[in-house]
Amino acid sequence: MCGIVAYIGSKEAYPILIKGLRRLEYRGYDSAGVAVLNSKLHLDKTKGKVADLEAVLEGKALTGTIGIGHTRWATHGEPNDVNAHPHASMSGKHVIIHNGIIENYGILKKELVKRGYEFQSDTDTEVLIHLIEDIQLKEKVVLFEAVRIALNEVVGAYAIVILSEDNPNQLIAAKKGSPLVIGVGQDEFFVASDATPIVEHTKNVVYLEDNEIAIMNRDEELKIKTIKNQDKTPYLQELEVNLVALEKGGYDHFMLKEIYEQPRSIKDSMRGRINSSKGHVALGGIKEYETKLANAKRIIIVACGTSWHAGLVGEYLIEELARIPVEVEYASEFRYRNPIIEEGDVVIAISQSGETADTLAAIEMAKERGAIILGICNVVGSSIPRATHAGSYTHAGPEIGVASTKAFTAQITLLALMALSIARKKGSLSESKLRQLLRELELIPDKVARTLEANDQIKYIANIYKNATNCLYLGRGYNFPVALEGALKLKEISYIHAEGYPAAEMKHGPIALIDEEMPVIVIATKKGSYDKVVSNIQEVKARKGKIIAVVTEGDDAVTEIADHTIEIPQVSEVFTPLVSVIPLQLLSYHIAVMRGCNVDQPRNLAKSVTVE
Ligand code: G6P
Repeated sequence: MCGIVAYIGSKEAYPILIKGLRRLEYRGYDSAGVAVLNSKLHLDKTKGKVADLEAVLEGKALTGTIGIGHTRWATHGEPNDVNAHPHASMSGKHVIIHNGIIENYGILKKELVKRGYEFQSDTDTEVLIHLIEDIQLKEKVVLFEAVRIALNEVVGAYAIVILSEDNPNQLIAAKKGSPLVIGVGQDEFFVASDATPIVEHTKNVVYLEDNEIAIMNRDEELKIKTIKNQDKTPYLQELEVNLVALEKGGYDHFMLKEIYEQPRSIKDSMRGRINSSKGHVALGGIKEYETKLANAKRIIIVACGTSWHAGLVGEYLIEELARIPVEVEYASEFRYRNPIIEEGDVVIAISQSGETADTLAAIEMAKERGAIILGICNVVGSSIPRATHAGSYTHAGPEIGVASTKAFTAQITLLALMALSIARKKGSLSESKLRQLLRELELIPDKVARTLEANDQIKYIANIYKNATNCLYLGRGYNFPVALEGALKLKEISYIHAEGYPAAEMKHGPIALIDEEMPVIVIATKKGSYDKVVSNIQEVKARKGKIIAVVTEGDDAVTEIADHTIEIPQVSEVFTPLVSVIPLQLLSYHIAVMRGCNVDQPRNLAKSVTVE
């Protein structure tokens, strides 16, 4: 949450900052600001998006080779010009950008107000820059030392960058709980919340660890110290992100591009991990935990949002194929409810970004209680993979659209591979069944590609229902989590209220809402509880609800009674979600576009939720 970008070197900072902010805008987009130093500090910020900031700055010659920029997702204080970052100290000499929350800001603020500090904004961030200045004046220390002392007084999470008029050749950055990456170029440094703004400038990066402070001086090597003042040797890594993956590539929106990438991203997530003719399936990253997984008494999956929905599919897969009991928990609930974790329990954390604060905290808590923690993440080098004992990456590539699509199907792919590899190890599936399922899994990318061909038909249906105010999504078995995910996709990008339910539960409440105005999206694929779902559809029709059904090719029973049917290819039941979710992603996308919504940056949301 919140995008941070900073630069020091010999090039003009402003274009680098603005471009970086555009790349990071998916992290938050309610206000933005920059500060560039050229003997004097020039600070400009505004409510709105990065484009609004550019408009404010048009015609102003913002020159200087050192600067910081920020795009905000509001926590403390409404999104307006004043609360936007950077924030300046009382003297106006130091400026800060911040991602995270300073939890003890109230006490610190009271103290500072007593000492005569005046606050311009409602943010917790402003407290930190006043505190730093106060320490510097009181203790007569250099800026780095003042930052270090201040960070020892702060409770909470932060990624910060500080720039000072007194130190025109220095940037200071620090992190705890929120990610920060430093790009190390030729006589220049870049700082950002993730690597996306850095990749076009340099592939050499250092991921800052918690409680570390980086000092970047012009024409000097990168220095890292801990907040306890110990020296650390920077660990330089090479980025693998490909620049093309960060562009829209001819699509109108990142979300549409990412929906269309799924045949490839699913294939990439399987690549090198299965060999159907040999009956081989293995996830290299968790190889040394295979036995522990196979012997696990219980598996607990923790995640948030769409990743939690993938976790629910994982529960069905692992219980059915590997016969191990699975619980799926919202990370935010799990971490605070004193859960019972016993020896032999394995926790699997699922996260696209690898930065979600609640998931990270749930991992730390379970680790303290002795659980083995495995991760399924998409962003290489992010915080969650570093906090887990082992894990496997989904190879979905960067996901920029705030609404998760290709990450969801990649996560399910990995959960399927995990379930099959445990089954193989445990012998809970016969050799022939295992081979058959692996063969079917290999066919999924083609089936996803065929499903995408229904795009025009889905667009036509979207046009009919674009003005709905409520929608119900129903599914049973493997399609129940898909119903939840379909409803989430619609509400987050089109702002239409939508609920997902297990189809049979409809009778216990939601049926009261059904009338001729109510579209009901039912995933009614063959196998599983197909006949039961057909009955549920009849119940909706009897109350004049409108049925949009996702059915298996060649279906007749549902096609006869539904208002619209979208066909998907025949898929083995256990892999159905990988295909049945596709029409729901496209439906949400088209409805949102037709309603004039910003699908890639829906209001109030952020891609990476680094606050709890
Ligand atoms: C945010 C995003 C969702 C995502 C959720 C969990 O709410 O908008 O798309 O599913 O966070 O994120 P994670 O990165 O942990 O999967």
